[in-house]
Amino acid sequence: MDSIKDLEWRYAVKKFDSEKILPQEKIECLKQAFNLTATSYGLQPIILAVIHNKELQNKLVEHSYGQKQVVQASHVLIICIQNDINEAYINRYFEQVKKVRGTSSDILDPFKNALMADFSRKEVREIEQWSKNQAYLALGNLLTVCALEKIDSCPMEGFVPSAYDELLGLKEKGLTSVLVLPVGYRADDDMFSELKKVRKNIEESIIDIN
Ligand SMILES: Cc1cc2nc3c(=O)[nH]c(=O)nc-3n(C[C@H](O)[C@H](O)[C@H](O)COP(=O)(O)O)c2cc1C
Repeated sequence: MDSIKDLEWRYAVKKFDSEKILPQEKIECLKQAFNLTATSYGLQPIILAVIHNKELQNKLVEHSYGQKQVVQASHVLIICIQNDINEAYINRYFEQVKKVRGTSSDILDPFKNALMADFSRKEVREIEQWSKNQAYLALGNLLTVCALEKIDSCPMEGFVPSAYDELLGLKEKGLTSVLVLPVGYRADDDMFSELKKVRKNIEESIIDIN
């Protein structure tokens, strides 16, 4: 049950210790964890932007409804979706499968063609929502890995994506920010670290069907 202890240790940090910086190997671990996130069809329509620049982080505060975690944190992770999920993108994914696994076109083509046909029928908004769902999966994965690695974090939806995209040049890269995750170390006087977790009773949360 060690993993449960780690999950109880984590909480949404409201005040980070701005003097403490995460070692590079912890950041590398989070990058790997992000890239290992399971995604629908394996298409990975998401990109992680890693910000470690106090001046930029300071500018993010006003686009985060004044939430200071983005400037206090050691690093700010921004989970973005790619705006180019089209036939060419899907094709590149299958080329990568061929390269990595050596699977032949004969085997891959029926699935590739079905997937392309499926995506070509989808509205842009539908693809966007599907991509956002993958961003949330990556957030969950990162939150858990942070807990296991004793990295403090705060998941955040409370920011203005269009302002972030403009400020960080994400728009030109064909990206849209979806979620923000400041990471670092909790401040000694963050009163939220002492608060009890508020959760449903486990019986309300789970149904066993035997
Ligand atoms: C998707 C998502 C968005 C959130 N957005 C914010 C936010 O903008 N600011 C904040 O302080 N907390 C934010 N939270 C933190 C939640 O309020 C917090 O996780 C929840 O109350 C449970 O508390 P705990 O994480 O400390 O156990 C967010 C959490 C999630 C999962």
